[in-house]
Amino acid sequence: MAIKYNADRKTFILETRNSSYLMKVSRYGNLLHLYYGKKIPDKNLDFLLKFQDRGFSPNPNEAGNDRTFSLDFLQQEYSTDGKGDYRSPSIEVVNGDGSTIFSGKMAGYKIYKGKYCIKGMPSLRAVSGDTADTLEIRLEDRESQAAVILGYSVFEEKDVITRTVRFVNGGRQSLMLKRLMSVTLDYRDSDFDLIYFSGRHTMEREFNRIPVQSGMHSIGSSRGTSSHQFNPFGIVCRKNTDEDRGDCYGYSLVYSGNFLLEAEQDQFSQLRVNMGINPRDFSYRVDPGEEFQAPEVVLAYSDQGLTGLTHLYHDVFRENLCRSPYSKKVRPVLINSWEAAYFDFDEEKILNIARESVAMGVDLFVLDDGWFGNRDDDNSSLGDWTVNRRKLKDGLDGLSEKIHQMGLQFGLWIEPEMVSENSDLYRKHPDWCLKAPGRPMTRGRNQLVLDLSRKEVCEYLIQTINEILESAKIEYVKWDMNRSISDVWSGALEKDRQGEALHRYVLGLYYIMDNIILKHPEIIFCGCSGGGGRYDPAMLYYQPQMWCSDNTDAISRLKIQFGTSFAYPVNALEAHVSVCPNHQTGRSVSLKTRGIVAMGGILGYELDSTKLSEEEKEFCRKQVNFYKKNYRVIAEGDYYRLTNPYENRSFTAWEHVTKNKKKALISLVLTDKESNAPQLYLRLKGLDENAFYRVEGHRGSFSGALLMNAGIPVPPELGEYDSVQFVLRMVQEAE
Ligand code: GLA
Repeated sequence: MAIKYNADRKTFILETRNSSYLMKVSRYGNLLHLYYGKKIPDKNLDFLLKFQDRGFSPNPNEAGNDRTFSLDFLQQEYSTDGKGDYRSPSIEVVNGDGSTIFSGKMAGYKIYKGKYCIKGMPSLRAVSGDTADTLEIRLEDRESQAAVILGYSVFEEKDVITRTVRFVNGGRQSLMLKRLMSVTLDYRDSDFDLIYFSGRHTMEREFNRIPVQSGMHSIGSSRGTSSHQFNPFGIVCRKNTDEDRGDCYGYSLVYSGNFLLEAEQDQFSQLRVNMGINPRDFSYRVDPGEEFQAPEVVLAYSDQGLTGLTHLYHDVFRENLCRSPYSKKVRPVLINSWEAAYFDFDEEKILNIARESVAMGVDLFVLDDGWFGNRDDDNSSLGDWTVNRRKLKDGLDGLSEKIHQMGLQFGLWIEPEMVSENSDLYRKHPDWCLKAPGRPMTRGRNQLVLDLSRKEVCEYLIQTINEILESAKIEYVKWDMNRSISDVWSGALEKDRQGEALHRYVLGLYYIMDNIILKHPEIIFCGCSGGGGRYDPAMLYYQPQMWCSDNTDAISRLKIQFGTSFAYPVNALEAHVSVCPNHQTGRSVSLKTRGIVAMGGILGYELDSTKLSEEEKEFCRKQVNFYKKNYRVIAEGDYYRLTNPYENRSFTAWEHVTKNKKKALISLVLTDKESNAPQLYLRLKGLDENAFYRVEGHRGSFSGALLMNAGIPVPPELGEYDSVQFVLRMVQEAE
């Protein structure tokens, strides 16, 4: 068992391969946090808790005259509200009498084999070859008879701990939950940096590293989705932590709606981190006998720097999160119609693009937006999921059949969660979208959001989308979501339940996905929200790959894919080669560089193949072949960021290495060309220093030690946005 309880010391001890997590029940029943970090053999950490009489630090009643016990400064496992801890709380609840006090005291625990369950929300699961053990601790508020049940599942071999919290109303009055964090973690000091990922549409997951300072730093989303603006992933690390060395802690929320990540340095220079559903626009009425569960947080600790942390997340997300059988299968190389044709196509044009792309060596053709209702632009028809026969005379099945005859598979774009005002669905069910009565509504991309907190809307979508998927031979689906949510009000909810609408929307979405995506394991689903606006682990649970960004410019993608790589595995990241000048930035970059950057993920194309020359198509075919030959190392190997594009302005490089270190693929793009420039060197990572490696296609070999310590010269003849890519193979002995 990776979990133990020492009854004498009232201490819980959780252990993974390289980390220990300890907490202790105080003499007054509060659960205090002792330690999370590098694995330690010690079981008695009581001396770390320092009790002191401090001014303006109140003492709870049960402490009697003991003025040294105060929640104002002790590290807590789950901070209760209204009892003298003034840091940002884990829970806020309005009691029947209007008070907002919740004082959770130890009321029992349970340790069992296997993973806890979260009903209705995605979470990790134990798979064969590794184990999970679970601890549940019940903290009860005597006065309201409500309790929080803290859940911890320890994935020992995977080196991660997952957490969730259940709020249970065991009393007689309805309680109004205003905040229920999935995790609180108190550190004894605040000598840390915070790393987080911010962005906007077409520029997602930009890397930020800031020092923790006095006060609160918080990031989050209130847009109804996990958002382009901030990703539900953050890292707390020591100041001297870099890619290869140092302590770091990862926080990843398995949730697709509003979230909050807080890092607060308190008056005594201690750090508290909270993560969970964003309390903004949230409340949840929990009636007697009912409960509410917070989504899962995946916690990981590494002393092997940011790369070590990345590898933990990549492995556990690849193996324990994604439910699609495709997460382990080779993905087809696709060509997507969006940047090739936008809304302007008919069957003939689509077939021409598909036919010409056969010569490029792709496997699958994806028909993007514009195939249904009267959709000739983005102002109408969302909700009317019937094929537009004016554009596609033989329907989806006819088109799919013709595409299959060319030897290609067929994929389709959908955006189930939306409705256009100009649609039959809206005309029939104007009350099916989120909008407040008597108020003008806010449009986004001229569309409205369906109210997925309504059961009948979910059932309608399940039936409609399943019918489409069964109406033709479809091997791939791109599931889009193209606006931020506003005007939140649901006709299906009582007045004091309106604060539940957004969370219920997310639960509705998971219910729909359970009944569409999990019912079609033979289809590859690709997550999308205007590119990477819902790029989170919960979506990865359903969809093995996600469209990383609507920005297909290879140079912008260097930063976007860099930021994405911290938590999300390479085989979750869909990346396309598009035309130049690029449609988003106007930049021109060689086909070679575009291909190399797109091979930093699941390679695809998004261009009009009828406009490519024979040489270009042949070039793409070679690119696809090279990618396919190296698919395993790219998709399943360990990923190394060799440079940080925010620091190294000259070039960006990355590396994929097989787990057995026998093969590596190195990619480098020159981002700034200087005159009479200094010679640049690239130091590799992750190789066996005692082994020798040969560059594929060249003679001679180099030791792993040399390649990692001296590095290799960056070819001085490379021009701006030029690139190199090469494969290293381990050889038996030096050549
Ligand atoms: C979103 C997606 C694009 C494309 C369009 C279609 O913006 O991110 O890739 O599918 O919608 O409308």
